[in-house]
Amino acid sequence: MAPLFVPAALSIFCVAIIVPSYQVVVAHDVSNLAKVACLSAAIPIEAWAALTDLYTAYHISKGDRHIDFHQLHEKYGKIVRFGPRRISIRSAEALKDIYSTSANVKRSDVYASSAHFFGGTPSSNTTPDMKEHAFRRRVNVRALSASNIKSMEEKILRNIRYFCDQLVDEGKDGWSSPRDMSKYVGHLVSDMMGDITFSKNWEVQQKPDNRDLLVSLPEAVAGIHLRPETGDGFSTEQLVSEAGLLIAAGSDTTITATTATFFYLTHYPDSLRRVQDDIRSRFADLEDICIGPELASCRYLAACIEESLRMSPPVGSTIMREVLPGGLEVDGEWFPPKTDLGVPHYALHHDERYFPDAFTFKPERWLTEELGPAKSDGKTETSLRTNAAFSAFGVGRTSCIGRYLAYQEISLVVARTLWLYDVRIEPGSTIGEGQKSMGSGRQRKNQFQTLDRFVSTHQGPSLQFRRKLSGYY
Ligand code: HEM
Repeated sequence: MAPLFVPAALSIFCVAIIVPSYQVVVAHDVSNLAKVACLSAAIPIEAWAALTDLYTAYHISKGDRHIDFHQLHEKYGKIVRFGPRRISIRSAEALKDIYSTSANVKRSDVYASSAHFFGGTPSSNTTPDMKEHAFRRRVNVRALSASNIKSMEEKILRNIRYFCDQLVDEGKDGWSSPRDMSKYVGHLVSDMMGDITFSKNWEVQQKPDNRDLLVSLPEAVAGIHLRPETGDGFSTEQLVSEAGLLIAAGSDTTITATTATFFYLTHYPDSLRRVQDDIRSRFADLEDICIGPELASCRYLAACIEESLRMSPPVGSTIMREVLPGGLEVDGEWFPPKTDLGVPHYALHHDERYFPDAFTFKPERWLTEELGPAKSDGKTETSLRTNAAFSAFGVGRTSCIGRYLAYQEISLVVARTLWLYDVRIEPGSTIGEGQKSMGSGRQRKNQFQTLDRFVSTHQGPSLQFRRKLSGYY
């Protein structure tokens, strides 16, 4: 790879080249152009960013795009340029303006790079044809409806029971030997996805040899899309590409969200105690913990999941949109056609304007009932701002259609595990935590560390489990 850190003199030279090229894109947007020039001149690497998308490639290879966006916005403010024609905007208003159904944008060309996975047919999330997208989205929405998910509950629970059984063994002093939660949750979610989406249990939890999921994909794509109640069907080629999409969209994201929830609960003992007390006092029997009103009313658990998604959004960077002829106004700024725009999720989730004390895990910020009645005080205003800036599931016409399923899965896994077991971090283990030696943006011990490569990967936390003392509750 070409060297990315260039001397300042060369960066100024780059700006000279870059500014004219950018003028093609935003010729009349003088103030923005000036900002871009300053940005590029001040930071050598941004000079490269203006010249080439290698800047993005570099941060993808480092897995720190989410952190980089946060640092760029902390330094330069709301609008930052990070590629020859790529702009990141950090604000709740930008979320609405860029992703709403009526926004004058299309998917950015960056989607084209993933369009030809799984047999060469674009999936609904990669097709540039918005009509085609709308049709496929409707089919997928029906397949993932609450009633369909409920009808598949037993399959979900079968996998969670196996997962819970795996967490304990004959360890010392009643505590199990340590479990790397990223791995255990990863295997569990793969099995749930196989069952739910493809009507096939891959037995990833049971059999290490089955952990190469993609091998089984082509013959296993029928699943929910061929259920008679959806009323619609896909061609075989479309099924293969939708299968790829659901695996990519539904697995890694849910794994990160579930693992992050375990991470934050074990690093914030007061929250762990509160959620555990709530679950153990509500449900007399483990099998009472299932999809339904009682689980839905565990508001503190839901707030912990929400807050984990805020702290460590599984899709941490930008979902790019290309401005169409006619241009687009975003949060008061005008952008010309062919500009790629996006809102960086992690950076927005750590913007103090919306989330005060942004690097602290505070589930309470999601409990509107605890913050006070609507529109009666400043606190409620805070909670409205909080909701407007929460983007873990995307916003608008390509937003996540698996959100309901994800919440059910995560709630069931966390609630059942905490009902059954006491949990602690393996003494002395720091896996998954931040530390100074990891560099700027990764220094916080109580923050779950992820590698952001569109979806996220991670390790840990390393946890131990102990059966709750009988008769304790
Ligand atoms: C916590 C878990 C999850 C998170 C954080 C998440 C996040 C997201 C995000 C940010 C998008 C927007 C992508 C874009 O605009 O290009 C998205 C789209 C999507 N998600 Fe999820 N997702 C999760 C779970 C799931 C699950 C469980 C499924 C299904 C099994 C799923 C299926 C989809 C699909 C099909 C799309 C594309 C929608 C469209 O293009 O119309 N997701 N998700």
